[in-house]
Amino acid sequence: MPLNQQILLENRPKGEAIASNFKLVETETSVLQDGQVLVRHHFLSLDPYMRMRMSDSKSYTAPQALGQVMIGGTAGEVVESRSPRFKAGDKVVGMGGWQQFSVVNAEPAGALRKVDTTHVPLSHYLGAVGMPGVTAYYGLVKIIEPKAGQTMVVSAATGAVGSAFAALSKARGCRTVGIAGGVEKCNYAVSELGFDACIDYKLHKDAASLSAALKAVCPQGIDGYFENVGGMVLDAVLPLMNDFGRIALCGMIAGYDGRPMPMSYPALILTSRLKVEGFIVSEHMEVWPDALKELGTLVANGKLRPRETIADGIAAAPEAFLGLLKGKNFGKQLVKLI
Ligand SMILES: NC(=O)c1ccc[n+]([C@@H]2O[C@H](COP(=O)([O-])OP(=O)(O)OC[C@H]3O[C@@H](n4cnc5c(N)ncnc54)[C@H](OP(=O)(O)O)[C@@H]3O)[C@@H](O)[C@H]2O)c1
Repeated sequence: MPLNQQILLENRPKGEAIASNFKLVETETSVLQDGQVLVRHHFLSLDPYMRMRMSDSKSYTAPQALGQVMIGGTAGEVVESRSPRFKAGDKVVGMGGWQQFSVVNAEPAGALRKVDTTHVPLSHYLGAVGMPGVTAYYGLVKIIEPKAGQTMVVSAATGAVGSAFAALSKARGCRTVGIAGGVEKCNYAVSELGFDACIDYKLHKDAASLSAALKAVCPQGIDGYFENVGGMVLDAVLPLMNDFGRIALCGMIAGYDGRPMPMSYPALILTSRLKVEGFIVSEHMEVWPDALKELGTLVANGKLRPRETIADGIAAAPEAFLGLLKGKNFGKQLVKLI
């Protein structure tokens, strides 16, 4: 069986995550048993939720165990199969983790999903036509429930979730405004992702200044806000929310290091009669088929052209992940393993 390079969680971060939280090891892949398949990973997905899993504070799920392979979505190819459900050469997506190969028990339906790469490149099944895309869909369609002509805003606008959000929101006839870090990301949001406007939060030293800039591009106020960041950005958006506006609380990456992130004016939720709903996309498997169908069509038709930042080789995963937490990625962050 092939040798397998893996990245383990060696210790938990104290504050910011650092490279020495991880450890690279090499092991031999185990021999296949009946019902198992060997998958060679072509791409590893790096996602902000992994930072939360590295800590053992209260969360929606158990922390990543120390000394174990880091959790992560993977896209690859079956190289050997002892399952009737898969054959060598099948392109598959699963949760193979930060390693080059995985041995998967293929019998529980859903452990591994076959994908068709005729019109959608394999890597996009970890981004726009995968978990991040479905996340954008769930928050927009099921929580915000947009109506044509309304104004939608999303933070981390050029990332994996934000870029899918733009395509889905524009397809529903909404004015769609992004918030992102840096002039290059904001220009790209408008010229390539279809946003009507994008505000660079890094140009603003406080929430009042950011709010004024947002107001200028949201003259009718904000009906739906898709929150990925928290902190100053949320403080800037809240005063602009229209009565009965909806906030899909998807992520709060500005606070993933564990620092407190107080809200300045939570009373606005009451006075504007807002709906604020947090969600975890993996708890809503019922929307995945519809979401993936729409996202796959948007990509195949060129209406959603996801950008990717690709690190090379498993050893590069920790640095790429730490970069993602600082906004160094531009679009979906992946690691290419082959
Ligand atoms: N609830 C769920 O089920 C679910 C599922 C998937 C993802 N999520 C959440 O969705 C959000 C986006 O995920 P993604 O995979 O699409 O990642 P991403 O947007 O591709 O990458 C993360 C981005 O967050 C921004 N960022 C990082 N630190 C920040 C800070 N301190 N302040 C403001 N922005 C910061 C950076 O963009 P800028 O350079 O523009 O600042 C960075 O590029 C994350 O919060 C993630 O946890 C939630």
